[in-house]
Amino acid sequence: MVYLKTVVLLAVIAVYQISSQNNVPIRASKETLEKIDGELRNKIAEERGNLRLAAGFVRLSFHDCVGEGRCDGCIDSGNPDNNGLQRYIDVLSGVYNDHKDEITRADLFAFAGVVAANEASREDAQFDMSHFKVGRADCSSDGQENDPNEHFPGNNMQNLGEVTKFFNAAFGLNEQESVALMGAHSLGRMETRNSGYEGPWVNNIERLDSAYYQEVAERRWFLKVMPESNGQKHQWERRGPTGGSGNREGGNPGAKALLSTDGAIAFNMHLNQESGAFLDNQECSMCGVANNPPRREAECCEKNSGYNICREYSANNPQWMNDFAGAFYKMIDSQQTNLSSPVSVTTTDATTPRPTKAPKPGRKPGKKGKKGKKRQDFFHTKKSHNDAKSNRIRHRIQKLMKELREVSDQVKKMKNY
Ligand code: HEM
Repeated sequence: MVYLKTVVLLAVIAVYQISSQNNVPIRASKETLEKIDGELRNKIAEERGNLRLAAGFVRLSFHDCVGEGRCDGCIDSGNPDNNGLQRYIDVLSGVYNDHKDEITRADLFAFAGVVAANEASREDAQFDMSHFKVGRADCSSDGQENDPNEHFPGNNMQNLGEVTKFFNAAFGLNEQESVALMGAHSLGRMETRNSGYEGPWVNNIERLDSAYYQEVAERRWFLKVMPESNGQKHQWERRGPTGGSGNREGGNPGAKALLSTDGAIAFNMHLNQESGAFLDNQECSMCGVANNPPRREAECCEKNSGYNICREYSANNPQWMNDFAGAFYKMIDSQQTNLSSPVSVTTTDATTPRPTKAPKPGRKPGKKGKKGKKRQDFFHTKKSHNDAKSNRIRHRIQKLMKELREVSDQVKKMKNY
């Protein structure tokens, strides 16, 4: 018996060493994803009103995928473009520590974005989770970013060409997909302490839908300089500074806002690349259609080819959600060479009980949520018997490795006595 155990342990060590040499990442099974899915949803519900977890997870998955390291589970906390993400990373680190033998951090960050997008999407157009793949490798074992030269998109882009250029180089997106991906800004808000910008893009910051496009293309927006930014930061607000739409302070702190890069998906403007201020004699306002007819057409920024895409998305949430999901998967799958669909480690469909969704604070226990959204089932596809078998073996090996680590920790402790 002892001999058998030793042989098994040696085999496990050999497999582990081969895996680490080839940098083969752990592949989360369907059961693991199902478990983590429930935990993440419970956290999103528990923290509602405190942390904007859905928004944070979606933004984090984007930032994790920028740069040559692609989606790699590492965020450079020294890069100011990542300001505000640490609180969301802290929440995911807790989940990761509980499952580190079952999933890579890179897969967890990407999956958290997928779960959050599904949780925040509307019943009539849910974010489809069935395309999620596993197999992203971590950039380091401790989450420290080893590519300090990640370049994030600027906040002062001036036309759709600039936006598409960024997303095409980063994730291979075309113009329409770039416009679709920006709809993520229907979630969450900007905070001065993080980015120097302030305010939400839409009224309901917890819902992922196409309301963002109505704001961008169907309202009138004025450029304003951010207070205390020394003229170095500008954003767009609904209420214009009195006496024109120039580079002035004004507007309504905390009200809805757009970055120039948001406006650039529908309008062209001429700005100083660094500060976002208008160039001389280039002032304009973004003129939408609803309730705000421009006083003079000449004051309006020029519409670009994204304008009609925005109008279509604004009128058709399911179409936008379909395009958004396609662009989002391209983002999290980009430059990955080792992805595969998650497989089950059990042979029957009956797996671990599904975790229940935590009630929103203030809601009576047992009362069904207003949305009552059904969680997407990972087990709806037909399983390959061989995949399931090899995954079960991998799962057992992972469990054995965990036990081995615990034994070796105990031996180390005993040695210290
Ligand atoms: C050209 C592209 C983009 C620019 C310039 C940009 C810029 C920004 C800025 C300045 C903030 C505010 C951060 C803060 O103050 O805390 C923000 C927030 C956010 N961004 Fe983007 N972003 C871009 C693309 C994206 C993409 C592609 C996604 C996701 C797919 C995304 C998701 C979010 C979300 C959800 C928030 C809100 C986070 C929260 O509430 O904590 N953004 N973005």
